[in-house]
Amino acid sequence: MDHGDEPETEPYADDECVSELEGSKLVRVKIDPIQAPLPRDVEAFLNDAQRRVDEFLEERSTDRKLGFFPSDYPLVYTFLDAVRQLDTHACSLCEWGSGFGVVAGLGAFLGFSSCGIEIDPRLNRRARRLLREHRLDVEILEGSFIPEEFAHTAPWSSTQTSTIFCGAGSNDEVDVTIDDFDVIFAFPWPNEEEVFCELFQRFAANGALLMTYHALDDVHVYRKVSTEDRDG
Ligand SMILES: C[S@@+](CC[C@H](N)C(=O)[O-])C[C@H]1O[C@@H](n2cnc3c(N)ncnc32)[C@H](O)[C@@H]1O
Repeated sequence: MDHGDEPETEPYADDECVSELEGSKLVRVKIDPIQAPLPRDVEAFLNDAQRRVDEFLEERSTDRKLGFFPSDYPLVYTFLDAVRQLDTHACSLCEWGSGFGVVAGLGAFLGFSSCGIEIDPRLNRRARRLLREHRLDVEILEGSFIPEEFAHTAPWSSTQTSTIFCGAGSNDEVDVTIDDFDVIFAFPWPNEEEVFCELFQRFAANGALLMTYHALDDVHVYRKVSTEDRDG
């Protein structure tokens, strides 16, 4: 893949331990996206999704409260496909802040048991319709992907971030927790990657992967690794 000039803000190198925390470390995983023509059904899904997203953004162009911005779906697919092949035991995927549910849908195409968590009901209605019409078995959960215990401790105010850090958590409402998933996908806003990494590291299962999309056309992949029982 041609990344062009590497972004100056690249936070962590591949294989670098990003942080150590309470018996675990978070490691940046080197991953080569899979460059192959999109399967036809995936291409049809993405074309339809992009058309609906564009219409929605056009209609809402003056809505300042809209926290939705789409990732580059064909690019994300190439990384998700690589993650699928890297970790054949990984079978469950959750899209944090799922918007139109497109990445969760791509996960279903790749054989993941896939779901999305989204706080905005307008997006959830559209995501469920899109996924149903493409016969994708993806559950969209309404609420927050941020557990309340983390929301209360995070050093953020609503003016510093576009992600909504407080409010009811779907994690509590629908019996889904972060450590239920092998792979999490998220599109953090520019200053949010660190806090998304921390959230993931605190609550994800050991061995789970976090994929983050960046508007500089890149996807970062991290793995949570246990640092306990090294001799066991
Ligand atoms: C940058 S958009 C990314 C949308 C989608 N993942 C994609 O790649 O196209 C971030 C999404 O997160 C949602 N969001 C913000 N805070 C949230 C929260 N605490 N829980 C669930 N969704 C949230 C927003 O409504 C928005 O749809």
